[in-house]
Amino acid sequence: MNKVGVIGWPIEHSLSPAMHNAAFAALGMTDWQYDKMAIPPDIVRQSLKEFRDHNFIGLNVTVPLKQAVMPFVKSDAVAKAIGAVNTIDFRKNVGTNTDASGFMDDLAAHGVDVAGKRVVVLGAGGAARAAVYGLSQAGAEVIVVNRTPERAERLLQDVQSSGRALSLEEASGLSFDVLVNATSVGMSPKADESPWPDELPFPQGIAVYDMVYRPAKTRLMMRADGVGCRVIGGVGMLVRQGAAAFRLWTGVEPPIDVMMKAVLDGLSGQTGTKG
Ligand SMILES: NC(=O)c1ccc[n+]([C@@H]2O[C@H](COP(=O)([O-])OP(=O)(O)OC[C@H]3O[C@@H](n4cnc5c(N)ncnc54)[C@H](OP(=O)(O)O)[C@@H]3O)[C@@H](O)[C@H]2O)c1
Repeated sequence: MNKVGVIGWPIEHSLSPAMHNAAFAALGMTDWQYDKMAIPPDIVRQSLKEFRDHNFIGLNVTVPLKQAVMPFVKSDAVAKAIGAVNTIDFRKNVGTNTDASGFMDDLAAHGVDVAGKRVVVLGAGGAARAAVYGLSQAGAEVIVVNRTPERAERLLQDVQSSGRALSLEEASGLSFDVLVNATSVGMSPKADESPWPDELPFPQGIAVYDMVYRPAKTRLMMRADGVGCRVIGGVGMLVRQGAAAFRLWTGVEPPIDVMMKAVLDGLSGQTGTKG
């Protein structure tokens, strides 16, 4: 059996097992199995050794372990730049980060071209780091807005982006092409909140990407939709970061539609977290 899985703490609401096992089933890959394992941060080192000893092919890594695993695997350039590992390949003992490609692949799937465009990213946590890395690599002009401005400055330095850190007030006075919410504001159970205050208008015709996927349509998305913006929720990113890990471990092209259906079914049936 080819074993893969996801580790986190807690992990019970992860949608990744449903997503990956649905893909294995759809492709007749009966010798592959994806499990979820709750691993407290203080035993990460020993746990990784045991997964390796038990011939696991790879793992996804979710909160709060994305940084904790880094000393025990070789981070590739993407994981180093983002400062977090969300996927491990034990055959090479390499850790990478598929959140950036998941985000960029989803933008592309929705026909949003960012090369040469100005993109405002709200947030400076792990998700924002992945977005700013991907956007900068793709040639976008990135503006980072964060509640704690020093974290935005630090992010830009770490991912070696030539972008700028601005306040919400400064950013809202500019014209831009894409707005990305990479904060947790608007996520259930606080779904009545928005990271873009109601009194701020949106530049006309922009695309608004909300990484939050619970609820499927956030307050930010509803407001933007109401004034004619193109709106995209975070489910596609979740699926595509998983698809990138699937591709890495198996060498097989994943069935995105099957994975998407498994995630949407999971989201409609439970209240979970990313992973
Ligand atoms: N769709 C996907 O595949 C995907 C992947 C990853 C993450 N996500 C989602 O993206 C969101 C962020 O995740 P993360 O891992 O980056 O979290 P994180 O590392 O904890 O960062 C959270 C960010 O949100 C900001 N924030 C939190 N509460 C705020 C508030 N009340 N007002 C203003 N800013 C606030 C924080 O600002 P400070 O720096 O000031 O604290 C920080 O920038 C979550 O909703 C997560 O579910 C989605």
